[in-house]
Amino acid sequence: MNATSRLAIAYGVLAGCSRAQSALHPAGPQAGRIAALWWLMFWVSAAVFGAVVVGLAIAAVRGRRRGQADVTGAPVANGGDEPGKVAVVTVCTAVTVVVIFVLLVVSVMTDRGLAMLATHDPLTVEVTGHQWWWEVDYDDSTPSQRVTTANEIHIPVGQPVLFKLTSRDVIHSFWIPNLHGKTDLIPGYVTRTWIQADVPGTFRGQCAEFCGVQHAHMALVVVAEPPEKFQAWLAQQRQPAAAPAEPLAQRGHDVFVTGPCVLCHAIRGTIAMSRAGPDLTHLATRGTLAAGTISNTPGHLAGWILDPQSAKPGALMPATSLGSEDLQALLAYLGMLR
Ligand code: CUA
Repeated sequence: MNATSRLAIAYGVLAGCSRAQSALHPAGPQAGRIAALWWLMFWVSAAVFGAVVVGLAIAAVRGRRRGQADVTGAPVANGGDEPGKVAVVTVCTAVTVVVIFVLLVVSVMTDRGLAMLATHDPLTVEVTGHQWWWEVDYDDSTPSQRVTTANEIHIPVGQPVLFKLTSRDVIHSFWIPNLHGKTDLIPGYVTRTWIQADVPGTFRGQCAEFCGVQHAHMALVVVAEPPEKFQAWLAQQRQPAAAPAEPLAQRGHDVFVTGPCVLCHAIRGTIAMSRAGPDLTHLATRGTLAAGTISNTPGHLAGWILDPQSAKPGALMPATSLGSEDLQALLAYLGMLR
């Protein structure tokens, strides 16, 4: 993959993201509050910076004039006891205190506002960080209705969603800039955050805590869609994998369950049940592979299976040596996992 494709994925283009990954393009109430606070701080800081530069310029010009007067032998004013200076310093100190206090109050109000999204009986999504991918579980009181997927989270528009976050190995950080700020995923501990999208769209997220060599390739997408479309997606994800109908896909299934793939991956409806790696039950519905590193096309999938280390050096997935017929069969099988 060339540099342009990598850049395109980084900005969410290949993953079909509907707007640039940016905290300054909010698509939900919390990101909106954070962006408003950011702009307030930006303009206040810009005004303070401008005032300091103007003050420095005035001081420099006056100091220069005083220096010239000194050379000509004229009397030099003693700079220490001008009453005007005391007044200026007093006013500047008072303005600084007021500005900092206002920013403090607005920050606290923003923080309170971020915590007000909580509702009773929410849709709950459990996200577990791994080096370097995201395990995603949709909670349900009926175990058979739970859904497990990876690296792609669907949520209904206009509805607060509770995220319970933890990690299997090191500290990661869950960050969807268009929707909310960062929340850490900590091994052995569950953190919580609420997210709501106000508009449909696909929003790219990124691990925001350095977690090893492939930290930069630990991305995810959040797909916000109308509630009925989300429910249809959830119902479809609850289904076990379709049984292969054609001989080629059947052979691919056999390659999968008799080869090394089965040691790490699950495909519900088959004997593959390991949770060491991403669940592949509906792999073909996902937009990217390897946590947003490459787009999910048959060519990329083949390259990923044969030599994952070239796309993502250090990833825990080992290379798999397959004959070309077995590889084609495996691609046919994985391609029908919709
Ligand atoms: Cu996970 Cu950085």
